[in-house]
Amino acid sequence: MLAVVACRAGLRRGAVSSAAPLFASARRSITMGPPRQDKLTTKKSDEQAFPGTEGAHIKDQPRSTEIANNKPEVTGDWVLFHPVYSPEELRSVEVLHREAKTASDKFAVAFAKVLRWGFDLVSGYKHKPIPPGANMSLEELQKGGYVMTEHDWLNRILFLESIAGVPGMVGATLRHLKSLRLMRRDAGWIHTLLEEAENERMHLMTFMTLRNPGILFRALILGAQGVFYNIFFFSYLLSPRTCHRFVGHLEEEAVLTYTRCIKEMEAGRLPVWVDHPAPEIAKDYWRLRPNATMLDVIYAVRSDETTHRFVNHSLANLKTDDINPFALREPNMHVKGRTVEFDRDASKHYVEESQEIVEKHKPH
Ligand SMILES: [Fe+2]
Ligand SMILES: [Fe+2]
Repeated sequence: MLAVVACRAGLRRGAVSSAAPLFASARRSITMGPPRQDKLTTKKSDEQAFPGTEGAHIKDQPRSTEIANNKPEVTGDWVLFHPVYSPEELRSVEVLHREAKTASDKFAVAFAKVLRWGFDLVSGYKHKPIPPGANMSLEELQKGGYVMTEHDWLNRILFLESIAGVPGMVGATLRHLKSLRLMRRDAGWIHTLLEEAENERMHLMTFMTLRNPGILFRALILGAQGVFYNIFFFSYLLSPRTCHRFVGHLEEEAVLTYTRCIKEMEAGRLPVWVDHPAPEIAKDYWRLRPNATMLDVIYAVRSDETTHRFVNHSLANLKTDDINPFALREPNMHVKGRTVEFDRDASKHYVEESQEIVEKHKPH
């Protein structure tokens, strides 16, 4: 067992340096390297990360799969598929709201509003408009409750992200179990839902580099997860479409919250964050430039939330046995940022287009 673990460590090390033969790497990790904590223990979220430390990223140069002279070559990605946004895409996001059309839509909106109210209450989030013509210093604005501090924003964001990672995992779990139980294919939904769950967890890991919450905050998250996971699990069993609609509305709120955060930063009201370097984990995940700042991170997070908004509202328009239109590709942010959803016909058209692309590139 120890030998297997050691060999894995060697392979990973080899993936970065590609310089030492496999056996030399493995031996070094047992006899010469520092004891265990360098490669085998969980990394802190802000630890210096090399691109491809845990496998090549989608943006890395394609590697040869050929193994020559015992040099291990590892291909793959350490995260699930994730888009890397262009500067134009990052700025093409609009705050949108989908009007409820059916009774189940109305129920989903109402539940999302209740949850938003609960989030606001628990995390102390407030958005009081600054009185026109008010000539107050930043300190006065903060004291008057018109402006939130970086600490207040982190309270809000950490709580929100710890909850946001739940629905995708529940949906993926239930569809996975259904596929096993009925011995039927899933129609491509599981991956998209898992990607969403991982994406939200990466948001949480990114913001955790800025604050280490106390025991009370952690207890609150623990309790909230216990309640929310179970409610969402049973709701998804009853009506997956209503659940996706609910998540779509929750993501509308997330886009709104991060848009406000960006405005506050650009207005100079979050001075600690404006030039704060982006955490290493964020640079690695979104492939940000080396001198990226927290503002770049918030823009990227907002684009992710926009994807969740679009995907969940679109999935809510489908029957649960329909093909997931985003299984093979996803529209770019110019579409997702300005359109709240694909209706069922648009999804069908998108699937047909994807199938044509696959056919065209098939080796004949
Ligand atoms: Fe998120
Ligand atoms: Fe989200």
